[in-house]
Amino acid sequence: MRYIKLRDLEVSRIGLGAMGMSQGYTGSGTDDAESIRTVHRALELGVTLIDTAEIYGPYTNEEMLGRALKGRRDKVVLATKFGLVSHGGEGAWNLDSSPANIRTAVEGSLKRLGTDHIDLYYQHRVDPNTPIEETAGAVGELIAEGKVRAFGLSEAGPDTIRRAHAVQPVTAVQSEYSLFTRGIEERVLPVLRELNIGLVPFSPLGRGMLTGTVRSTDQFDENDFRRDNPRFTGENFRRNLALADEVKALADEVGARPGQVALAWLLAQGDNIAPIPGTKRVARVEENAAADAVTLTAEQLDKLSSLPPAAGDTHTEAQARMLER
Ligand SMILES: NC(=O)c1ccc[n+]([C@@H]2O[C@H](COP(=O)([O-])OP(=O)(O)OC[C@H]3O[C@@H](n4cnc5c(N)ncnc54)[C@H](OP(=O)(O)O)[C@@H]3O)[C@@H](O)[C@H]2O)c1
Repeated sequence: MRYIKLRDLEVSRIGLGAMGMSQGYTGSGTDDAESIRTVHRALELGVTLIDTAEIYGPYTNEEMLGRALKGRRDKVVLATKFGLVSHGGEGAWNLDSSPANIRTAVEGSLKRLGTDHIDLYYQHRVDPNTPIEETAGAVGELIAEGKVRAFGLSEAGPDTIRRAHAVQPVTAVQSEYSLFTRGIEERVLPVLRELNIGLVPFSPLGRGMLTGTVRSTDQFDENDFRRDNPRFTGENFRRNLALADEVKALADEVGARPGQVALAWLLAQGDNIAPIPGTKRVARVEENAAADAVTLTAEQLDKLSSLPPAAGDTHTEAQARMLER
């Protein structure tokens, strides 16, 4: 495994997203034993960047990771997120990045993760009711106290990134980015390059579709959010399967798995990019980590870059309202 820097923070080029171990694709606790084995295998393979959030579960994903990382904390660059649980009474899935809420959130995350510091603490979504300067200032105080090492943003637009960075340097922006979702290329990526901010692409496998293993929505768990996601329904799904087939054809040429090619394409987009593919299975974390060794020729990269993005929105309407676009 090779390592890169997100600003001053050294991380493995391929990270591990833990969300799907407790939410999104399946319910909490579906197979924690295999999830924990997956985390341990990732660490053996040199993966250091592990990604969670207080909203995943909510809380159960951090709790499971806390159990998985017992005795292994020093091997991990641990990233979690605040701002989608309002602890003042509104509860889960309510935007709240006020300083008071961050103070409450960080104590909960530290406790559940069984640690005295978070390496990378992201605002999960921009909160229109709290000026980003106040949020950045609050995280800056946590950094000064040693509870947090570095500050991140997720799905923030260019103006918010600049304003936050002026108060507290932003180490990384985590946003959806993959062969299927290219929206940040025009306005966000140039700002990250200019300000030397790292990029952590989430859902780098197109929520599983770019691995070539999704053929029908019938194979999804009944809790799986993809069942009503626009990209996985009707005509969009059929078109996106055809796109995934094009990635698979190129992967066959390279002698790699389609998901590995999708990750290798992301790694080729810059020097400070660390995607966090999500899996709860040992065999798949092995496959994903090995993408670090896959190299694509300029011609293959061009071919992939010229594919159209996926058909259909990556979010439902309610989720899309929380994004800064
Ligand atoms: N900041 C945000 O707002 C945000 C939003 C979404 C996600 N994230 C983060 O990004 C991480 C990754 O995103 P994601 O999980 O949504 O999407 P993803 O990484 O694009 O895809 C995950 C899906 O692909 C499957 N998969 C993974 N590796 C595979 C392989 N080698 N072969 C076949 N299938 C494979 C997984 O199934 P199995 O688990 O069954 O293997 C899961 O269904 C999350 O875990 C989370 O930490 C952040």
